[in-house]
Amino acid sequence: MTSWTLADRAAKMNSSAIREILKLTDRPGIISMAGGLPSPKSFPLDEFTKACQTVMLRDGATALQYSTTEGFADLRQAVADFLPWDVSPDQVLITSGSQQALDLIAKVFLDRGSRVLVEKPTYLGALQAFTPFEPVPVGVDSDDEGMLIEDFAAQVGTGADKARLAYVLPNFQNPTGRTMSDARRQALVDKARELNIPLVEDNPYGDLWYEGEPPLPLAARNPEGVIYMGSFSKVLAPGLRLGFVVAPKSVFGKLTQAKQAADLHTPSFNQRVVAEVIKDGFLDRHVPTIRALYKAQRDAMLAALEREMAGLDVQWTRPVGGMFLWVSLPQGMDAQQLLTAAVERGMAFVPGAPFYAQEPQTNTLRLSYVTVSPAQIEQGIAALAAAIKAHTP
Ligand SMILES: Cc1ncc(COP(=O)(O)O)c(C=O)c1O
Repeated sequence: MTSWTLADRAAKMNSSAIREILKLTDRPGIISMAGGLPSPKSFPLDEFTKACQTVMLRDGATALQYSTTEGFADLRQAVADFLPWDVSPDQVLITSGSQQALDLIAKVFLDRGSRVLVEKPTYLGALQAFTPFEPVPVGVDSDDEGMLIEDFAAQVGTGADKARLAYVLPNFQNPTGRTMSDARRQALVDKARELNIPLVEDNPYGDLWYEGEPPLPLAARNPEGVIYMGSFSKVLAPGLRLGFVVAPKSVFGKLTQAKQAADLHTPSFNQRVVAEVIKDGFLDRHVPTIRALYKAQRDAMLAALEREMAGLDVQWTRPVGGMFLWVSLPQGMDAQQLLTAAVERGMAFVPGAPFYAQEPQTNTLRLSYVTVSPAQIEQGIAALAAAIKAHTP
């Protein structure tokens, strides 16, 4: 053991609870509904093979050279073009996954002790990205539609303690699968504008809708008051590490400087390949195939829950898009303890507690339906129900 002195922030860093659980559950034979991995069936391999070749033959050394921090012009233009409000490519910063956007936003906005508002529960990876900057994340009471406006206003704080930002996931939220209604979006945007709180809108799942398109993003309602984050991970492939931020001019420069210091730029080659793949409307043809695949699996999971949980005091969300649903166990049942019993019976999930900024609800858990077949879903949900029965006094 060395006795090197690390920064205080290093003590606060922790591995993702999900990665730790995956180590335990990614054993052969376990039906894992724990990970949030997109289905490899959805990766367009042929298109990527062709685009890689085109980029090498056409752009050659330029594709392998250092490039600008803001991102490849054609890709920034493509992002601006597909977003449903008036976006200039000058406002688009290409990032190394939207996870990097969370880090950059935290660097630019947060000091030690800064108040940050988050949903109850929220994306664990955002809490992890914020943690090194030692903020105080505050959970805002949330219902099936996300943050409650009254509690949002009540938690904003004043003076030096005023929240620096509010982080929200309006579409098919990770972890709950819930979606903000049109009215709630508008009310949140209006309240945030009135209180002068920047909203950070994280939307990696927005295109994966199964029952019709979700309402307009928050950013479309007040582009000057919202920092919007998107990703190519769920519609093309996560290994590309390609995401983007759309930010008002007032912070765009700072985010770009933070990115320059972090990694100079997102890989030029990946950006050019994706720009090549998506030109000519490929996403319009490809994304519906992902929707069809995931919708069938969501339906299988909802049907299995209906059947297997009959008579048990268990509730779950009915997501209209995305990759996850959220289960509430009987009061007093601890999902972390239940996990051991579930793994013994051949299935795994993620306990809900790490998704809460404070006061975790330990009787909750997250299920992913995208990487498991309908047959595995039936088997896995039956195993979960058996574990719950074994835990019920
Ligand atoms: C809500 C949310 N935001 C951001 C990310 C990060 O995605 P990526 O960095 O692959 O774009 C994820 C990944 O699962 C997520 O669920």
